[in-house]
Amino acid sequence: MIRLDSRFATPFIDEQKLEESTARSIRAEQTLLEKSGAGNDFLGWRDLLLDRTGDLTAELNRVADDVRRNADVLLCIGIGGSYLGAEAVIQALEPRLHRSDNGVEVLFAGHHLGSDYLHRLLAHLEGKSVYVNVISKSGTTLEPAVAFRVVRNWLNERFENASERIIVTTDPARGALHAMHERYGYRKFVIPPDVGGRFSVLTPVGLLPLAAAGIDTESLLQGAIETARSFSGGASNIAIEYAAIRSALCDDGYAIELLASFGPRLTGLQAWWQQLFGESEGKDGEGLYPDAVGYTSDLHSLGQYVQDGQRILLETFLMVEEDDAPLVVPSSEDDSDGLNYLAGKSIHEINRKAYEGTAEAHRDGGVPNMTLWLPRLDANAIGALIYFFEHAVAVSGYALGINPFDQPGVEAYKKNMFRLLGRP
Ligand code: PA5
Repeated sequence: MIRLDSRFATPFIDEQKLEESTARSIRAEQTLLEKSGAGNDFLGWRDLLLDRTGDLTAELNRVADDVRRNADVLLCIGIGGSYLGAEAVIQALEPRLHRSDNGVEVLFAGHHLGSDYLHRLLAHLEGKSVYVNVISKSGTTLEPAVAFRVVRNWLNERFENASERIIVTTDPARGALHAMHERYGYRKFVIPPDVGGRFSVLTPVGLLPLAAAGIDTESLLQGAIETARSFSGGASNIAIEYAAIRSALCDDGYAIELLASFGPRLTGLQAWWQQLFGESEGKDGEGLYPDAVGYTSDLHSLGQYVQDGQRILLETFLMVEEDDAPLVVPSSEDDSDGLNYLAGKSIHEINRKAYEGTAEAHRDGGVPNMTLWLPRLDANAIGALIYFFEHAVAVSGYALGINPFDQPGVEAYKKNMFRLLGRP
């Protein structure tokens, strides 16, 4: 069970203001549960957990098994919501470090236009058995489309059965990838039309790469389902509390939320969270800017600003209770480095003290902060965290009075880019 500790945030908020913000968030949650708000045709991310059919994962697992049996590498091509979730979960669970069996290496392309990266990636893939999962809901996004054209060429030149090695994840009936599936017989998974990109990690978009990587997708889904059920109205919950505190602080002029981790395994989840909150809330002049920091590394770079810079920051720490890789500081006979006072302590414990010291210092420096505690870093807890954030951003968006499920702003750069590229 995830828990939220808000003791270092609430003293910054006037009591009545927090009550009003909580009441607004409760009403916003009602709007979500009753499906009566803007974007209510994009609530499939919740429905698919609560009214689940077993067939989807069975087919996904069959294909993932085939990939694991026959591939050295699964190359996933996608961007934004068609990329960040799978990368985040793989990074958090580090399947290749934990498993000695058959998880395949999952690599990513099409999430930017850096040609040097793609060039080196293809060189790295030389001589390996490569399968490709190209993921795009619209099937028209330029970055993955360009990467797929290059990779498809590369595959066709190397493998006689190239079309058996390509799996598309896209719209049920439309778009270039759907057309290629029909024309070349590529295997296909469907992105439900009522699930937006940034809410799609628990659909085939994320589940196929994750299953291929050897992650327990059943347990991931179970964590999300349990959390979805526990947030089904009637009682207050931590998503409402999180949304209410953010919203009250935003009203008071705080502009940036830092999601802070204390270990590199959570970096991908922070990036996924940035997209989820940035695209959902940042519109109509509203929303906190979602930023991410990785401590203790960033305490040696951004720490100064957080402690003493403009007082527009609030902070949410993402912490893990249990240590799954115990490593203890050894004692030393001569204590030449002066660290014997730490001998026998685990690095996890030292990291935790660093967190406690940081949370206190930032509160004292005028940064309201709260902490989300995960019991451990496993698939179930990550599933719960994913659902927690999805639910919280929907509540928070409705409380702000915006549609949390659209992203009109992302079209502006595309329009210019396509004009400059001379697209017919
Ligand atoms: O959340 C979103 O809708 C976006 O980030 C998309 O996921 C991203 O732009 C990729 O779109 P598509 O899957 O259509 O290629």
